[in-house]
Amino acid sequence: MSSDFADLVDLSEGIVQRAAFTDPAVFAAEQERIFARAWMFLGHESQIPEPEDFFTSRMGTESVILARDRDGQIHALLNSCTHRGMKVCRHDHGKAKVFTCPYHGWSFSNDGRLAGVPGALVGVPHFDKAYRGELKREDWGLSRAPRIENYKGSIWASWDPDAPDFLDYLGDMRLYLDYALDARDGTPGASRVVAGVQKWRVNCNWKFAPENFIGDMYHDISHRSVDMVGIGPNGGQGRRANFRPRIAIGFPGRGHGLLGELPTTEPEEWNNAWALHPEVDEWYRAAHEKRLADLAGRPRVAMSVGTIFPNMSFHGRQPRTILVAHPISPTTTEIWRWCLEDVAAPQNVRDAAREYFLRYSGPGGMTESDDMENWAYATAASQGPIARRRPYNYHMGMGHARPAPGLSDAVECGEITEENARIFHGRWADFMRGQPWPIRLSHAAE
Ligand code: FES
Ligand SMILES: [Fe+2]
Repeated sequence: MSSDFADLVDLSEGIVQRAAFTDPAVFAAEQERIFARAWMFLGHESQIPEPEDFFTSRMGTESVILARDRDGQIHALLNSCTHRGMKVCRHDHGKAKVFTCPYHGWSFSNDGRLAGVPGALVGVPHFDKAYRGELKREDWGLSRAPRIENYKGSIWASWDPDAPDFLDYLGDMRLYLDYALDARDGTPGASRVVAGVQKWRVNCNWKFAPENFIGDMYHDISHRSVDMVGIGPNGGQGRRANFRPRIAIGFPGRGHGLLGELPTTEPEEWNNAWALHPEVDEWYRAAHEKRLADLAGRPRVAMSVGTIFPNMSFHGRQPRTILVAHPISPTTTEIWRWCLEDVAAPQNVRDAAREYFLRYSGPGGMTESDDMENWAYATAASQGPIARRRPYNYHMGMGHARPAPGLSDAVECGEITEENARIFHGRWADFMRGQPWPIRLSHAAE
């Protein structure tokens, strides 16, 4: 292993060494080189709609408060007191003018400052008596992510001041993120989070989740029982009845990918996705037709599932969700899942979507539990000295990627392929080498 671990990935041979998924030294390096630099999803604006609302999220292994200050600005604040490191906020979400540290009482405003906030009770106890007025409180605010972006209500942040702009980081993956964030009738960003975020831990390495959701159609066999039961809103016809053909589309150099459709102007029949709920189906049909009419003649995309490097994945169709795989240890991952709904949807449509979400996703969902089992057993069975002699095999579809028509810096490689997984691990190696920027698009489909 080289000291930067980048050689654990060999794209020319189509292999990744198991140490990338199990080694504590690799995990520690990932925190510094990936999670302290990449753009990461922290939450949705609808979770903190008003001034002084907050939602406690994570960036890598660290707790981060997504806080809206009294002027409505959103900040990503490291949840660690600058005095001795105590967590200043131990709630999942709420409303706070200040975050008062429980240990010695330092009080930070909801933009992270320890001084200079007129009218707010920020500062340190015994400033005059014990500190003799000498502490430079303006230097000791909470660490605040220097880069933050509100993209159609989805909030992203990076600790790296040199990171490219978020839209440049996304590239044309943006079209597919739009599909997930926009309302079903195409209204930009007109979505909100269904109350509550599902959170659960899996005994697996964090990379299993984004690698799976970036476009692993090959693992469909895992969900055979779900397909037989027919948990989808079309009942006995399985989860994906009437889906139009999907292909794997990847963004080499950026590390993102998805299963979905290339941009098209072709007409698209409504596919009767909610056959068991005719009134709900009617609402979706009307939304679908409005979107088509509004976009008439302009390319549009559809997608089912994808990953934005490093650890944010999302489902664009029902159940429409966002997932983040937070690293906890080399072999423990905490998964969070948000469900999105249209702001304008009536109650019966929202109920149907939420119920489908609950039987599909999360720790009690039928597909998610299949996936968790695979990732946990794979992690456990990859740690022994004999197991670690054999790398994981990523040979499928090597050398068969083609430029994706209608998209910049993208490739497509049929429906069942490991091209997107290779793209993900290639990007992982860029970060581990300490060279994530500028984004190197030249190694497209190498
Ligand atoms: S650790 Fe926060 S005030 Fe001391
Ligand atoms: Fe799956």
